[in-house]
Amino acid sequence: MQENNKWTFASSLILHTRPVRVSAKTLRYTHTFGLGGMSLVLFMLLVGTGLLMIFVYEPSPERAYQSILFMQQEILFGRLIRGVHFWSANLLIAVAALHMMRVFLTGAFHAPRQSNWIIGLSLLFLILLSGFTGYLLPWDQISYWAITICAEMLGYMPGIGQTLQRVILGGTEIGSATVINFYALHTIVVPLLLVALMTWHFWRVRLSGGVVVPRDAEQDPQAGTDYVPFIPNLLYREIAVGLMLIAFVLVIAIFFEAPLGEPANPGLSPNPAKAPWYFVGLQELLLHFHPVFAVFVIPLVIAIAMLGVPYLRYDSDLSGNWFLSPKGRRMAVVSAVTALLLTPLWVWVDEFVIGAGGLLPGVAPIISTGLLPCAVLLAGIIGFYFLIRKRFSASKNETVQALFVLLAVGFAVLTVTGVWFRGSGMALVWPWQT
Ligand code: HEM
Repeated sequence: MQENNKWTFASSLILHTRPVRVSAKTLRYTHTFGLGGMSLVLFMLLVGTGLLMIFVYEPSPERAYQSILFMQQEILFGRLIRGVHFWSANLLIAVAALHMMRVFLTGAFHAPRQSNWIIGLSLLFLILLSGFTGYLLPWDQISYWAITICAEMLGYMPGIGQTLQRVILGGTEIGSATVINFYALHTIVVPLLLVALMTWHFWRVRLSGGVVVPRDAEQDPQAGTDYVPFIPNLLYREIAVGLMLIAFVLVIAIFFEAPLGEPANPGLSPNPAKAPWYFVGLQELLLHFHPVFAVFVIPLVIAIAMLGVPYLRYDSDLSGNWFLSPKGRRMAVVSAVTALLLTPLWVWVDEFVIGAGGLLPGVAPIISTGLLPCAVLLAGIIGFYFLIRKRFSASKNETVQALFVLLAVGFAVLTVTGVWFRGSGMALVWPWQT
């Protein structure tokens, strides 16, 4: 009897944030790949291992590196705990980004889910902030110089850049105030914000009656939506995926140790010095555009577009299925192939043909390497939009999705280029020469 009560209490607690009934069609694993739930599991692993590390870590430039070494060498399971934290953090960034793409590519950002899309984007921002603030804490050469690169990028922002840089670093350069700032943000402020936003996020999914329901090609979209209780149908599936993910993280943490370089040396910059992998795409932009455009104008335009995408006026309601429709899928393939071909070509041409002077050498850099190439890029993107829309006689939904795929694959190519194809002096090299 008491067991029964406990179970009822647990299930009603769960059902406060999760939907009571869900469409059986959404239970198919490939509909969501469980990516939202996986993000939650990774976050819980981060909190669990982070709490344990707080007992050993010392947030000061003099003690930080030693305390990490001590944790790895002297503490029972210290190496494993740090490894699980490191891998969960990196996986969370990738998994949350993939979850965002799943939501986009099934059109799940449309009404009534617009506000949840915005909450999701805020979650992604916070996850990146969490990764960024945690990156510095080991205080080794890798972390010190990666954060130096990011701080320099921040400084390029017109008007607010220098102030923002000073506030975040707690001074003009990276030092003890920076470690304290990053530690407080990483261990208290950002996790609390994440918990609050995640709770809101889950509640909004519940309000929408679960995730977006796939449309049935042969049937009336409203017909045959057979709803089943969340417990046990979805809950047990989520638990199974969660347990497999935890096993996976444990295995990679055992076999691949979290990196720890030499202690930070502010006087000796590694060559090349790279940002954390999730900001390397931005660092790559910096090699091609004037800094104001690379770290401010382009990211700002993309952020506004992402925030605004649910509020555009669309000509059809295609949400529910992957890539919206068979035509949407073909268009996405064309966009992906276009980005896969054109982005490396553009990187190569800019490096070896155009060069540092930009499109009009001799003219002010902000025009020749900023305004002008950005105008050419924008014209290309707008041209692509109209061309693909006409070629496929597509709806606005399908064309906006094609554009999203073009930009997402383009950014992925820039990231891969920055991580594997940049060597000494950030010159283009083959991965085996780095
Ligand atoms: C810590 C990060 C996140 C967690 C824990 C999380 C969790 C979840 C979960 C569990 C679901 C329902 C199941 C699923 O779709 O897999 C969901 C749905 C959703 N998420 Fe997230 N999410 C996160 C980040 C994001 C991001 C970055 C975005 C987009 C920018 C986003 C937008 C949405 C939307 C719009 C839905 C409703 C989708 C639908 O109805 O099909 N979420 N999220």
